[in-house]
Amino acid sequence: MSRAVPATPRFPEIDLTDPDNFVAGVPHHWFRKLRAEAPVYWHEESDDGPGFWAITKYEDLKHVSRSPKLFCSSQGTNIESHDGETLQRLQMIMLNMDPPKHVKFRRLVQRGFTPNRVQHMEARTRERARAIVDAVAGRGECDFVNDVAAELPLQVIADLMGVPQEDRRILFDLSNRLIGFEDPEFQTSREDAMQASAEMWAYANQLAARRREGPQDDLTTALLTGEVDGERLNELEYDSFFLLLAVAGNETTRNLISHGMLALMRHPESRDRLVADPSLIPDAVEEMLRYSPPVMYFRRTATADTEIRGVPIRAGDKVVLYYPSVNRDEDVFEDPDRFDVTRSPNHHLAFGIGEHFCLGANLARLEINILFEELLARLPDMEIAGEVRRLRSSFIDGIKEIPVRYTPERGRAHRAA
Ligand code: HEM
Repeated sequence: MSRAVPATPRFPEIDLTDPDNFVAGVPHHWFRKLRAEAPVYWHEESDDGPGFWAITKYEDLKHVSRSPKLFCSSQGTNIESHDGETLQRLQMIMLNMDPPKHVKFRRLVQRGFTPNRVQHMEARTRERARAIVDAVAGRGECDFVNDVAAELPLQVIADLMGVPQEDRRILFDLSNRLIGFEDPEFQTSREDAMQASAEMWAYANQLAARRREGPQDDLTTALLTGEVDGERLNELEYDSFFLLLAVAGNETTRNLISHGMLALMRHPESRDRLVADPSLIPDAVEEMLRYSPPVMYFRRTATADTEIRGVPIRAGDKVVLYYPSVNRDEDVFEDPDRFDVTRSPNHHLAFGIGEHFCLGANLARLEINILFEELLARLPDMEIAGEVRRLRSSFIDGIKEIPVRYTPERGRAHRAA
């Protein structure tokens, strides 16, 4: 655990590990300072962790993500250090695998996750998005997070995996308990997250057993029957992948939608442009991803002595990649703190890059675009109507509640009356 403190600048006020420091918003002022004064910054850890390097510049994040042999994922991708059984369990998830195992595993699941399958999801996703807007359109007010943003990603993942309608609520609650482990509102302890993960695992197992007996046209069946080089996913690997999707596909997309709507409500002139010209929505979605990437960081571990930007990194050092910071790197993005729905080019890194580039990026883009098309066409004057409550987390830039109001859709208001 011990590691001599490197001779780099110290900013005692900066603590990127304390979730309390994210409750008021992503601490962009700290990231700005780090990019300018210590882009490869030695960050100490409380709880007697060894400390880690905080990477805040765009090119450095690219370099690290594209060098999976030098900066590995298999020692864990969250900041906390793990060993023994916990690490072994984590290594069953592709996010925490390295080449060559990762390449094989990814090829296998990619076969069930083709652009074709994603394209097939389009009609279904639009139906789902319409139903979500239908449910709130006549009311004139709702909680955007729970009534709109949370629903679509859950439904889409469940559609993709073939989860029956009656099981979906269970899945939603479990995924909340898994990701919200730093927020007391969702659960009381890390033990509860472990418990939720075990329940999710058991559920995945059950679904796999059902599909083995009765195959369907869904990703679960494709994953259980697909082969690469004569190899199949075993049940444990399938369960781990299911768990990853349930978290990676739900919370990220939900929060991106919430942040995106929030940005549009705070920049009504941008929103009005999208309402007038929906062909601008895809660019606006990219800007939402740049401006508020829902994943705050992923971690790597150096496998050999090396350097980044001339700063020596030692084998075994943890290297943490901060997406919200690189997406506002002044060397890459002009006027980076400005929310500009017409920004071009916009090569943000919200989905990562390289070996572990987000497997769900196409699906996420599809969902988000469709939802904003439906929302802006039907509820174009939505505005913030109360306190925006943020998730207490140093890992996910999350929002728990956004009270909104809007002119009720007339037909629906009549029908509701
Ligand atoms: C706005 C939405 C999303 C964002 C911002 C996002 C972000 C990310 C990022 C940054 C990574 C890279 C991890 C790394 O380099 O260590 C990643 C990986 C991943 N994402 Fe996403 N994601 C989103 C939606 C989704 C969806 C909808 C799915 C699935 C349906 C998904 C599945 C995955 C998987 C399986 C990986 C691991 C890939 C690998 O290890 O090779 N994500 N995501």
